[in-house]
Amino acid sequence: MNILGPDELVFGVDDIEGCCQYLQDYGLQGIDVGAHGGRFEAMDGTAVVVRRADDPALPPAIGPAPSLRETVYGVADAAALKQIHAELSKDRELTEAGDGSLHCFDDMGFALGFRVTTRRSLIAPPVLSNAPGAPPQRGPNKVAVDQNAVILPRTLSHVVYFVPDVAKAEAFYVDRLGFRPTDRFTGVGPFLQPAGTLDHHTLFLIQTPPFMKGCDHFTFHLGSGTDVLLAGTRFVNKGYQSFWGPGRHLYGSNWFWYFNSPLGCKMEYDADMDLHDANWLARESKVGADTSQLFLFSQRDKWFPGDERH
Ligand SMILES: [Fe+2]
Repeated sequence: MNILGPDELVFGVDDIEGCCQYLQDYGLQGIDVGAHGGRFEAMDGTAVVVRRADDPALPPAIGPAPSLRETVYGVADAAALKQIHAELSKDRELTEAGDGSLHCFDDMGFALGFRVTTRRSLIAPPVLSNAPGAPPQRGPNKVAVDQNAVILPRTLSHVVYFVPDVAKAEAFYVDRLGFRPTDRFTGVGPFLQPAGTLDHHTLFLIQTPPFMKGCDHFTFHLGSGTDVLLAGTRFVNKGYQSFWGPGRHLYGSNWFWYFNSPLGCKMEYDADMDLHDANWLARESKVGADTSQLFLFSQRDKWFPGDERH
């Protein structure tokens, strides 16, 4: 099934104003923002949608507000949508919205939407590095650093669910929707890749105690590790609270920096994730500090040697 990944995450929240400000400060472009909420887009049109927790148009909540209310997957074409309908309608009710999108619940009770993707094709400059021994990527007089650089999230990367029965949750995404495990933390859960992308994962599942379920975090891809460090530094300087990072993961190799958010979960900046195809053999390890990151730094204010103010 040609699922590309999440096109849109929909949240039901209490603090509309705080969430809208947070997502724009993160770098997303606010569209139709008001007392009802808003839509916050990355460069390719993938987005977070914020609504009031009591908005009757939202699927039912699986936990207290604020919370993730729906994950809307973008699929390649109408044929993929039809295939999903044929598969999932075997054992659950699907509703079709006016825009042709399909809506249902996964086996853990998470609300899902599927639609022919509305992503815009994205052309954005790569980050170029010069390394002795290889041809320069950035020629003479091309300066790497621009302290005023505008950093825009490029595309929605992944979402992470807490699930009380990881085997059952994984079986749904693998057996019914064609996701593939790329790596796994023993006793915790798999990193899952849908068929329509090579990204290491667009979904990660975390085993939790019975009845505990919800969203742990989600993130957008930035253009580079430098982007993650600069965007995260600016975010800290705006007063937001760092939760974990900056660092670089082992599985997926993606740079990360997680922040607390008013959305009921954490929000991450990520960049430079590995790509894998069907030749990849999934790795497995115990979860812990040594297996989850290559390195970890903690942010601090700028200083200068000899500057006694710090
Ligand atoms: Fe993540």
